[in-house]
Amino acid sequence: MNLDLRTKRNSSLVGSWLLIAVLSAALADEPRQGPGDLRDGYDQPDYATDSTSLQSRKGYKTDLLSVLSAPPLGLPDIPIPQNNPVTADKVQLGRKLFFDRRLSANNTVSCAMCHIAEQGFSQNELRLPVGIEGKSVRRNAPTIYNTAYVERLFHDGREISLENQVWAPLLAKNEMGNVSIGVVIERLKNLDDYAERFMKAFGRGPNMQTVGMALASYERLLVSADSPFDRWYYGKDELAVDESAKRGFEVFRGKGRCIVCHTVSQDHALFTDGRFHNTGIGYFATMKPAETEFDVFLAPGQSERVKTDLAQTTGSEKFRDLGRYEVTRLPEDRWRYRTPTLRNVALTAPYMHDGSLATLRDVLLFYDRGGVPNEALDPLIQRLGLSNVEIEDLLAFLQSLTGSNIDKLVSDAHAAPIGGG
Ligand code: HEC
Ligand code: HEC
Repeated sequence: MNLDLRTKRNSSLVGSWLLIAVLSAALADEPRQGPGDLRDGYDQPDYATDSTSLQSRKGYKTDLLSVLSAPPLGLPDIPIPQNNPVTADKVQLGRKLFFDRRLSANNTVSCAMCHIAEQGFSQNELRLPVGIEGKSVRRNAPTIYNTAYVERLFHDGREISLENQVWAPLLAKNEMGNVSIGVVIERLKNLDDYAERFMKAFGRGPNMQTVGMALASYERLLVSADSPFDRWYYGKDELAVDESAKRGFEVFRGKGRCIVCHTVSQDHALFTDGRFHNTGIGYFATMKPAETEFDVFLAPGQSERVKTDLAQTTGSEKFRDLGRYEVTRLPEDRWRYRTPTLRNVALTAPYMHDGSLATLRDVLLFYDRGGVPNEALDPLIQRLGLSNVEIEDLLAFLQSLTGSNIDKLVSDAHAAPIGGG
């Protein structure tokens, strides 16, 4: 798939905004019938999508709670906070909230529109996602699979619980656009289909805690492993992966030294050390010549080149990104980002915190070159001198990390009630 989403500029900027305004208004009245999830029909010949319209989504509910007693092969027990034990009612409520566009200021954006179930609960089509009213977000949407195990959330690790995390997108002016926590709570209180569900799950109505607890309970159960790699490495099934993937794992833990950051333990693998490293991606983006213009992404394959000052007035985030430094203010944390898990990585293109690498092959070539040299580059990132076969083998290994329950979880997502259902 070609993920270079630079565009045709055949419609005027004003025209595009008008279209978005009209669409938003239409959706505000009829949140259940919007065409917004159907992303085909864009005019780039090489543009393809596997997303579906709301009406054609069909799925089967699955028993999400089963992973609590038996996490899939290759993963440890799911950490559950004491003050938010998982219950079926919370999970069902959280699942409904996750897919509900009415959680955004104008009823157009749900969590699931950036964390798209059939795209690895991330977003394959946009390097940087688009939030409310066509406003761009400066970082790539990470997967929700296995976030239960993430101790520091976001690419810069600025949040420490799934319960709290939900308020960031709900309130971001370029994501779901709500001006306060209060308006979200009040809106939920006024929706008939929620009162009973909140009472059942919590014995009280929507508030800052219960909204976070419900969403977190659903997200926490989206765990996925038992991949071919797991069945080979932990399950001792020699036939679960081919020889190429096995050789790829040898490069991964040997010559490539990938395993130092993307860790594998004796009885499970999270493929992340949970720490922050400078691979040069952030440095590169910052050091590019200062841009007076940049692309604002409106929809897949559609963006407008706007002057920087105009981009700011649209509410799009400034694209400057200093990584972990923004959280700690420590100079050494500049351009450091959290090591992402590699589970299900074949499903979550494009890659890195800014989505700047389109394919897994691009990521491997990036490491082979030694990242982007800069004075704070992590010492582990060095030229590797990989052969073509080693690159193919690494690819085969990365592709063997897709969990066996993905179809089930996607199907379950498609069975989620939408809007007032
Ligand atoms: C407009 C697109 C957009 C919407 C809408 C959105 N997200 Fe995200 N999400 C992102 C991006 C981008 C990031 C990474 C941001 C960063 O690292 O600074 C992210 C990060 C996350 C993370 C952290 C994952 C990790 O590995 O650290 C979680 C969890 C999450 N979102 C859940 C949600 C939930 C729940 C909602 C709805 C309440 C939601 N998102 C709505 C784009 C979106
Ligand atoms: C010094 C620690 C470190 C080493 C060594 C390392 N990585 Fe990474 N890896 C990271 C960090 C940090 C990121 C995220 C960078 C960003 O977001 O800008 C990353 C991102 C990735 C991604 C993209 C994942 C995504 O969801 O965007 C892949 C794939 C990957 N690494 C594979 C590898 C492979 C294969 C090797 C060995 C050749 C390797 N890594 C070596 C730290 C490391």
